[in-house]
Amino acid sequence: MQTLALDSTGLEQAAQIIRRGGLVAIPTETVYGLGADALNAEAVRHIFEAKGRPQDNPLIIHVPSADWLETYCHDIPDAAYALAAEFWPGPLTMILPRREIVPLQTTGGLETVGVRCPNHPLTLEIIARAGVPIAAPSGNTSGRPSPTTAAHMWEDMDGKIDAIVDGGPCGVGVESTIIDLTVTPPRLLRPGGLPLEELRRVLGEVAVDEAVVRKMADDEHPRAPGMKYRHYAPKAPVTVFTGAPAATAAVMASHAGAQTGVICFDEFAGRFPGCEVQTLGPVGQPEAHARRVFDALRHFDSTAVTEILAQCPPETGLGLAVANRLKKAAGFQTVAVPSGRPLWVLGITGGTGCGKTSLLRRVAARGGLCIDCDAVYHRLLREDAHLLEALRVRFPAAFAGGALDRKALGRLVFGNPAELAALNAITHPAVRAAVQQTLDAARADGVSLAAIDAVGLIEGGLCALCSRTVAVTAPEQARVQRLMAREGIGEDYARLRIAAQKPDAAFAAGCDDVLVNDCPDAAEFDRCCGEYLDRVTKDI
Ligand code: TXA
Ligand code: MG
Repeated sequence: MQTLALDSTGLEQAAQIIRRGGLVAIPTETVYGLGADALNAEAVRHIFEAKGRPQDNPLIIHVPSADWLETYCHDIPDAAYALAAEFWPGPLTMILPRREIVPLQTTGGLETVGVRCPNHPLTLEIIARAGVPIAAPSGNTSGRPSPTTAAHMWEDMDGKIDAIVDGGPCGVGVESTIIDLTVTPPRLLRPGGLPLEELRRVLGEVAVDEAVVRKMADDEHPRAPGMKYRHYAPKAPVTVFTGAPAATAAVMASHAGAQTGVICFDEFAGRFPGCEVQTLGPVGQPEAHARRVFDALRHFDSTAVTEILAQCPPETGLGLAVANRLKKAAGFQTVAVPSGRPLWVLGITGGTGCGKTSLLRRVAARGGLCIDCDAVYHRLLREDAHLLEALRVRFPAAFAGGALDRKALGRLVFGNPAELAALNAITHPAVRAAVQQTLDAARADGVSLAAIDAVGLIEGGLCALCSRTVAVTAPEQARVQRLMAREGIGEDYARLRIAAQKPDAAFAAGCDDVLVNDCPDAAEFDRCCGEYLDRVTKDI
């Protein structure tokens, strides 16, 4: 089908398409909707088809004023009129008992119907001209982020619907707030463009549905059926970081790599060099965050990112809706970054194949900032002019071609303790200074948990930067097995790699604690790491 591009000059045409049972994308102040005659079961069926939406997920109907409520709903409480008087036209959907005239196809089989009066002049005009309520879910393909521009609508619906009316970018940017008025007390089913605080001001007590705050299990049935589906999700997995903005930015930056997508407040965009960054607007401007959030989520699908890290705004006012959209995009995968206490630093060391990574993952899951000293070292070798100059003077042979040849440098010190000591005397202070700088910055940002991961934790003097140190060790046979499985290498090579490192006892000697990984499997050791962290962080 050829999809027509319409604008404010094509409203009569849009209304005609609706009247004869077609599908039209309509602009609203929240998000673009995919509209059809709400009273025409066949037209409504096409909405579900075009979106790929499950049939049991009801549509809301759009009316031009509260005067239409009586025609489509019964047993309307005074509260509905009070809300309409305050907030319509606007981003509020009310769930009320349905009259028979609204087909069950529209309500997904429910005896209730969601009604809203949108605040957009073009769409109000189209409804008035069509003379019927317009059923309209958000215009995205089911599961994708909601559309907030006509361009988003073309992305998802070109060729699938009769027309797209361009009414400019949506002013609010997140969908309407949904309040269920058929229960006592009224219940918030979806946070949206109208803050919960505003509803409570008019209604008094308002309950918040469980589906707003946590992931629904497969066998659970939230009151808004749509809340159980995976939503708003880009292709790459999303993790949401909650906490003080400076602290979350610092922790996210420590976890971000070249393939990472980042959603952050404007102030922190510079913290993620090399990452694919989408900004939400400045801290403290929830209206901007709401307008940006879906476009930011959508953006990553046209990039090669393999993960997305997102800063979460505080969950008050409009922030509740923005946080909810981000968390739903993340399948409620969130990390709470602790802040407001003095920075506590765990130094982690140990040989390859012992399980340091499990402990680091545990620190990360608690919102800790993780410093990989190997990565710091390699960054310095690329960027630190002073370090490179010192190396050039002491190891000219490693600069035969002009630039540093890391392999040549490795050959010069391999098996030669005196040369290795000379190299360490140059590199250790540089790494230590860089780590110190990162920790100082984290402290200034209010971060209160960090880990330093370093093979040379003790001899490099990094332990002096730590509140506590731990060596992760494991029986040799277990390390061999793990290395072989992890890196697909043979047994002899695995043993060689282990023999080239310091013995476990040497790692253990310099540390406050030793965590012995003699667990039969990774899950068990993961639990041990959790218990260890609980123990050592108990009193901080
Ligand atoms: O801002 C909005 O509300 C946008 C614009 C286009 O108006 N529309 C929108 O519709 O977001 P949709 O279908 O994407 O989301 C409506 C949500 C769904 O989660 C649905 O399950 C729920 O409302 N819903 C609809 N009717 C309901 C009812 N009778 N009872 C409970 N939940 C209902
Ligand atoms: Mg939707």
